[in-house]
Amino acid sequence: MRAVLFGATRGIGRAVARVLAVRGERLFLLGRDRESLARSARDLELRGATAPVAYAQCDLLDPDGFAAGLEAADRALDGFDTAILSAGLFAPQERLESDPRLRRDLLAADFAHSIEWCEAARARLLARGGGTLCVFSSVAGERGRRPVVFYGAAKAGLSRYLEALDHRYHAEGLRVVTVKPGFVRTAMTDGLEPPPFAGSADSVALATVRAIDRGAPVVYAPGVWRAVMLAVRSLPRSVMRRATF
Ligand SMILES: NC(=O)c1ccc[n+]([C@@H]2O[C@H](COP(=O)([O-])OP(=O)(O)OC[C@H]3O[C@@H](n4cnc5c(N)ncnc54)[C@H](OP(=O)(O)O)[C@@H]3O)[C@@H](O)[C@H]2O)c1
Repeated sequence: MRAVLFGATRGIGRAVARVLAVRGERLFLLGRDRESLARSARDLELRGATAPVAYAQCDLLDPDGFAAGLEAADRALDGFDTAILSAGLFAPQERLESDPRLRRDLLAADFAHSIEWCEAARARLLARGGGTLCVFSSVAGERGRRPVVFYGAAKAGLSRYLEALDHRYHAEGLRVVTVKPGFVRTAMTDGLEPPPFAGSADSVALATVRAIDRGAPVVYAPGVWRAVMLAVRSLPRSVMRRATF
């Protein structure tokens, strides 16, 4: 595998990169902080990734830099065959309601700019006959819920885009893998009360890499969230109006 990973300096993305590193894969990192990128690249080399693990700066809030980042990945990997997007933003609903700038950033990062990055990556993959595009959405996009009005809306839109992309380009060799984590203990969820089925970045990473290997279009991680969301999707509006989750 020759994979470009955007957002693998910590959290779930880093765990995915580490699973791939142990297999000796060729990896290229995109992220916004040069020092974190250098540290992560070294960590992945020590874990077994084919050296050198190269990297380039790329900010999810600056889509004008996406082409250059992917071009650098293509050059370093002789054409990547897998593109993994785990960079993303989260903030509590109350903060997003009172801070329009943060709200705009979150909606841009998790929806419009995520799609822009996917478009740039999938065009490169399709130009050489296909490959895998693996993107982290969320169970938050499955139903309109009181604590995640904006984050959930962005992830719902992202999931729907990825579903349609799969329908549009599967026959041409594009494998779209949409990962829908439930609550995972990472910096993103620091300070939040974990629900009963909270998962770890490592277990989500293993499920993600399995899905990439199989070309599974949608993966809930941990897997129990598939059943949980099936139940949540069937709840009537009167219940959802009162639900605090
Ligand atoms: N944790 C959960 O419970 C959960 C649940 C459902 C879905 N997800 C989704 O899973 C993905 C990974 O989440 P996580 O929990 O691993 O989050 P995390 O620990 O906060 O890590 C987020 C990653 O995104 C990068 N990032 C953030 N803003 C960026 C920007 N403007 N430009 C470039 N990179 C940026 C961070 O880089 P820096 O190190 O530079 O900040 C970091 O590598 C996200 O899409 C998230 O929405 C998470």
